[in-house]
Amino acid sequence: MMNTTTAGQETASASVPLITVDGPSGSGKGLLSAKLARHTGWQVLDSGALYRLVALSALQAELSLDDEAGLERISLNLDASFSPGDDGIDVCLHGEPVAQKLRHEDVGAMASKVAAMGVVRAALLQRQRDYWQLPGLIADGRDMGTVVFPQAKLKVFLTASAEERARRRYNQLMAKGENVNFSGLLREIEARDERDQNRALAPLKPADDAILIDSTANSPEQVFAQVCQLLVEKQLFTENV
Ligand code: DC
Repeated sequence: MMNTTTAGQETASASVPLITVDGPSGSGKGLLSAKLARHTGWQVLDSGALYRLVALSALQAELSLDDEAGLERISLNLDASFSPGDDGIDVCLHGEPVAQKLRHEDVGAMASKVAAMGVVRAALLQRQRDYWQLPGLIADGRDMGTVVFPQAKLKVFLTASAEERARRRYNQLMAKGENVNFSGLLREIEARDERDQNRALAPLKPADDAILIDSTANSPEQVFAQVCQLLVEKQLFTENV
């Protein structure tokens, strides 16, 4: 299934279906991607989890951000696998479920730092492309449609207002019994958007050919149905919901 381009880079055959789902944190990409993976039976890639895994390993090994060689080694050797879960994408590292650990605040903060490093992004680029295999791939992240898979025939850019994303996160945390402050969450989300959109490397922005979907006023089921319709229109998958 892999072809070698003249540049010597490996790319999956264009006949393997691919859909990219990019957008800011909390827009519902993970849930949408998991639903799409279950519907199509395709592989799913949570690229944000790769950055979080690098961060987790770096914290566990007590690596400093100056240790570029160490961070590159970790990035090149991640043995991560993904599967669709009930409320998002499940992640395993060397076969062990790690989704809970990846959600910790210190891992998220470290992930946003390693994600801004060229050496880490370069090391993860081919690893991400390696997930593009039969029967197809749903790729979830920030730069899937712009950098990692610019050739994708269907690119979704999922957004929601910062208030709505903060409200969803607030409800999730309250449901887990955590004591949270809405305005604090909103400030965090706005600060993260600002960092993601304005960083020098692979900033968060829709690809020119992305389809923008605003989930602020729509349920996850409505967004899913809309994307399934697009899959059929683009002749990437024949069954509609
Ligand atoms: O989506 P997330 O919160 O799990 O992402 C974790 C971090 O990785 C976040 O700081 C954004 C960054 N990221 C990125 O730079 N590129 C991606 N394709 C996915 C995530």
